Amino acid sequence: MSQQTGETFTHYIDGEWVTGESEATFESENPATGETLAEFERATQSEVDAALAAAEDAYEEWRALSYIDRAEYLWEIYEELRNRTDELGEIVTKECGKEISEGKADVVEAAHMVEWAAGNARHPHGDVVPSEIPSKDSYMRRKPRGVVGCITPWNFPVAIPFWHMAVTLVEGNTVVWKPAEQTPWCGQIIAEMFEDAGFPDGVFNMVQGFGDAGAEIVDDSRVDTVLFTGSAEVGHEISSKVGGEPGKLVAAEMGGKNGIVVTESADMDTAIHSAIMSSFKTTGQRCVSSERLIVHEEVYDEFKERFVDLAEDVAVGDPLDEETFMGPVVDESQVEKFHRYNELARKEGVDVLVDREELPDEEIPDGHDGGHWIGPFVYEADAHEDLRCTHEEVFGPHVALLKYSGDVEEAVEIHNDVDYGLSGAIISEDYRQIHYFRDHAEIGLSYANLPSIGAEVQLPFGGVKKSGNGYPSAREIIEAVTERTAFTINNSYDIEMAQGLSAEIKTKDDD
Ligand code: UN1
Repeated sequence: MSQQTGETFTHYIDGEWVTGESEATFESENPATGETLAEFERATQSEVDAALAAAEDAYEEWRALSYIDRAEYLWEIYEELRNRTDELGEIVTKECGKEISEGKADVVEAAHMVEWAAGNARHPHGDVVPSEIPSKDSYMRRKPRGVVGCITPWNFPVAIPFWHMAVTLVEGNTVVWKPAEQTPWCGQIIAEMFEDAGFPDGVFNMVQGFGDAGAEIVDDSRVDTVLFTGSAEVGHEISSKVGGEPGKLVAAEMGGKNGIVVTESADMDTAIHSAIMSSFKTTGQRCVSSERLIVHEEVYDEFKERFVDLAEDVAVGDPLDEETFMGPVVDESQVEKFHRYNELARKEGVDVLVDREELPDEEIPDGHDGGHWIGPFVYEADAHEDLRCTHEEVFGPHVALLKYSGDVEEAVEIHNDVDYGLSGAIISEDYRQIHYFRDHAEIGLSYANLPSIGAEVQLPFGGVKKSGNGYPSAREIIEAVTERTAFTINNSYDIEMAQGLSAEIKTKDDD
């Protein structure tokens, strides 16, 4: 697809580019400039219906292929992601505003996920399980679940779709995917890759649109599994809706109010580096970004001084420029949310340390006045007060410094005092403190002497509490898109039961 062709891009259904029934369209915008990138059709119930019908029809033939044959199609996509990393990375940056190294890393992460999923086709897919009875062989086997509905966010517009779809397809499911409405251009390119890879018609379908189209996917009885990555509000709504439907499963991965614990034994360079990366990379718009820095009183003053100095200095700018550390936020609603929470923090009585909320004109790159620009907002607050600003997710560079005294137990208690539980880190030179954090921090992704961001695809990715419902993404999505069968075969003519259960059939004449 080329940019600004004047064309309106359509949906990809049953191996065809399909013009929908509705006249409604929407535009993709460059968050750094406000320029329109391209126009897309907005799906209605009828396109979702056609996509689901196609996915359902394609399922039997697709699941009948071997894992290895299914994976062959994915290897084609892997090649393309590898060969086009720079080009696609630039498109990610243009459409979601992440600085260019992050744009490219998004594509690299997608390639890694495809590599993992396609490679896994040749790996064992179940377990041989011992039986109490020598003549019995037992196995745990996996089967695809059927039609999988995928709803993905804008902040990782290439990687997360492949977290959802790569394993799902190799396992023998078919897919209906709705990309985020902020990043439909990335959606279009991914769909073109599926077309070029020659997937059988109906195995992969994409509809462009908003939450109403997503809700049509979620609600439809033909969908066996819903994979959702995005906001907690939407994720909880989907989970409670689908949770009541027998046989249907939802794997929802949502945000966090993530924290970093810096103990009295921390190496300060590691602490500052990790905290700056965690708070400001992706302009705070990762679900694993940190908005709470929990720092021991003995090292607090040094940490505060150095963190504040750097937060004053990090380069906000054109995301295509390699010297930029923070690009714009994705759209005006993110700007407004950030301002709302900064205002709330002020009202809640925090001490503001860095206020780059409204960037001065000279910090806005030339020709980029229409972009969604913000800078870091850093404050100190009472670690024990139940403030909304230190407990609710902002999804931006809104960062609280929270001082603690006492031991690591105290720090972890403060760390856990949020409803979310996605990612977190401890910075410490004391392995006992590190292991205490590993064992007691209520999170799905836990780091030591590292930022709270940057997970690799061969690990499960997921959270606890309000951050997820127990089905992690990336590698472990396999649990959400397959059924497990416990299969047992008897190698003898005699039936012998486990648990000492009698297999003898007794008749009236026996006694
Ligand atoms: C997200 O934060 O929305 O762990 C996904 C990371 C990336 C994925 C982040 N691999 O930072």
